[in-house]
Formats: sequence, C-alpha cells, structure tokens
Amino acid sequence: MSRRLFIAGNWKMHKGPRDADALAVELKRALVDHPSVDLAVAPPAISIPAVVARLQHTGIAVAGQDLHDQVSGAFTGAISGEMLAQAGATHVLVGHSERRALFGDTDQIVAAKLQAAFRAGLLPILCVGETLSERDAGQAEAVVARQLSTALSSLSIDQVLTLTIAYEPVWAIGTGRTASPAQAQEMHASIRGWLASRYPREVPATVRIQYGGSVKGSNAAGLLSQPDIDGALVGGAALTADSFQAIVAAAAQVGASSGH
Ligand code: PGA
Repeated sequence: MSRRLFIAGNWKMHKGPRDADALAVELKRALVDHPSVDLAVAPPAISIPAVVARLQHTGIAVAGQDLHDQVSGAFTGAISGEMLAQAGATHVLVGHSERRALFGDTDQIVAAKLQAAFRAGLLPILCVGETLSERDAGQAEAVVARQLSTALSSLSIDQVLTLTIAYEPVWAIGTGRTASPAQAQEMHASIRGWLASRYPREVPATVRIQYGGSVKGSNAAGLLSQPDIDGALVGGAALTADSFQAIVAAAAQVGASSGH
C-alpha cells in the first residue's frame, strides 16, 4: 500500500498574526504546484485564524502546536482542541519534544492530549524521539516504544489508523545534525514493526511516520526515499517559503519516482 508523503511545518514561537499572514501569502504562491504531497503548517495558536483565512481552498492544512486535555475551564493560558478546531485548525501536534522537555509533558499527559485531540475532531501528529544520552546508552528504540505504548494505550484501532507519528530524535532538532537516512529508516522500521506486532496489518500499512530534525531542501530527498519515511516535520526550514518549498519539491519528486 502506498502512503502519500506528508510534509508539515512547525513554526514554533515564530510569526505573530501579521507575519504569519505574510508567510502564508508566500506559501500559497510557492506551493501551488505540489498537489501530490499532503501539506500542513502549525503556526502559533494566536496566528491560526489569519493563516486559516489565507490558506482557504489551497489544500494546505493548519495545525495547532499543542492543546490542553480539557475542553474548557480554569486553566489560564491554555488552549483546548475544541478551540483550535473552532479557529479552523484540522490537525494538532502532540508531545513535541520541546513540550516534553520544557513544559513538563509526561507520557501520561501526552496520552491525555492525544485523546483530547480525537475528542475535538482534530487529526493528531504524535511526536516521539530519544535524547542523545538515551541513544548513546542504546535505549533509543526502547524509549520510543515506551512513548508509543503509553500514548496509544487507550486509542481505538480506528483512531490509530488516522494517526501520524513524527519520529524526531531530540539531538537532531534545531541542531543542524540530522539522523542519516539509514539511522532514521532503522527507527521508522522499528516503529512500524511495533505497530505491526500490536494491530491488524492495515495499521502499519496505513499510519504515516514523518521524520523530523534539521530537515532541509538538501537532505530531504535522501530521507524521504527511505521506505518507512512518509514525510517530514520541519522546524527551522519551515519559516521561509523558499526553504519549505525546497523540501516539498523534493518530496514531490520522491513521491513521483517511488510511488510513495
Ligand atoms: P528543526 O525542528 O527542523 O528546526 O530541527 C523540527 C521540529 O522540532 O519539529
């Protein structure tokens, strides 16, 4: 079964409404030629309405970067999945390593947020990945398996089928140090194997696994040509239309030649 490549840009804490609108204008122009690749951008929550309005009818989806697990309540500063959906987002990142490392999102919190995303009707992109010390200790696969098993523990098969998983080794995020295509493929195959050992065959065949961590135009094709790499979650290179477009163009080319 072939899985369409899925490239998502995570803008992190960049681009307020005015700057986000300007980038969306450029993206709309730059990405018009890539209908064979699924695309999403994740602006800061405050910029979602502007980006949603600008990207209407382009096929480029808009995602939140995080959500609270409750619908509403006394949670100052927090935003629920329902609010993201009301603002026009269709997707949401869950468990990004910066949320885990800087904001205290444990595996259990990530699991609750994942359920909240489905409750709100959002399509989640679940981020997993090991730190450098975990990799050096030979724990990379075990850490990712633990993250997956807690996050997916109470999801139905139908929910898991619509999930996107982003494998982002923490040591490769924002560092310019990318996992080699072989290193990334090894972990992606291990994630798909993990899914295969727990769910019906349709699940590992369908679930898309993005790679994230210093993806750019010059390394995208090598990564995306790997059989178990179904897209990319892009940080720094998602902040200009040119650098994001270069990755999307590489994906379109890989998709055309591999039947991905
Ligand atoms: P990066 O970030 O592309 O800047 O390494 C990726 C991410 O954090 O999703």
